[in-house]
Amino acid sequence: MSTASPLRLGVNVDHVATLRNARGGALPDPVRAALLAIEAGADGITAHLREDRRHIRDADMARLKAEISKPLNFEMAATDEMLAIALATRPHAVCLVPERREELTTEGGLDVVGQHKALAPAIARLSDGGIRVSLFIAADPAQIEMVARLRAPVIEIHTGAWCDAVADGDRAKAESEWQRITAGAALARAAGLEVHAGHGLDYATAEKIAALGEIAELNIGYYMIGEALFVGLAETVRAMRAAMDRGRGKIAGNGRA
Ligand code: PXP
Repeated sequence: MSTASPLRLGVNVDHVATLRNARGGALPDPVRAALLAIEAGADGITAHLREDRRHIRDADMARLKAEISKPLNFEMAATDEMLAIALATRPHAVCLVPERREELTTEGGLDVVGQHKALAPAIARLSDGGIRVSLFIAADPAQIEMVARLRAPVIEIHTGAWCDAVADGDRAKAESEWQRITAGAALARAAGLEVHAGHGLDYATAEKIAALGEIAELNIGYYMIGEALFVGLAETVRAMRAAMDRGRGKIAGNGRA
């Protein structure tokens, strides 16, 4: 029998909001997606309130906190504005991430070594507010050791470089990134940190990283939201066909001999 502890799945709903914002209306609703994800087995919901509000907005975060029955993981940059929102929202967890306006997604881990003086008070304020803090970092020993020194309880290992190398078929890079992740996860556990991982994971990379017993949680979004379109599109087309057929059937005399 396996002795590994359970591996939690945090579902990131940011890109439901990306789609909603493309039209500027209220649909599709990221909170509805979060409720569905929980019904389907998600252990928590992750959402990133970016400085430019390109996907998740303040009202989404408030509704997620109010409406979901599982832990909310609030991803944010360590700015005064975000700290104030997080402390008012009181999510279960905050994951501090680096953020540059021009990037398409969160492109690298936090430089905890270079920014420890600015991060220390942010970690303290969130922790004092009863919020579990994690830091999103590359699996580098110096970064991991600094997180432990700052007394944040959790790291989230940035898996983006590994997933990109796998997707590109660059086997040497994929192998070296994988070694970096496995060594980093072991080092972090030895330092007493809880280890999460995420960014760019798909079914195959999630299956592979799930076999690392040091990891307690994976946070996954983009791939699943994209995949959900294909899994759900046929059923949605059938429902639309049926709605149109019902409507057309209401024309007097239609379908009658
Ligand atoms: N974890 C963190 C800290 C992230 O910033 C992101 C992306 O928002 C994810 C996980 C999820 O990445 P993806 O959407 O590529 O699965």
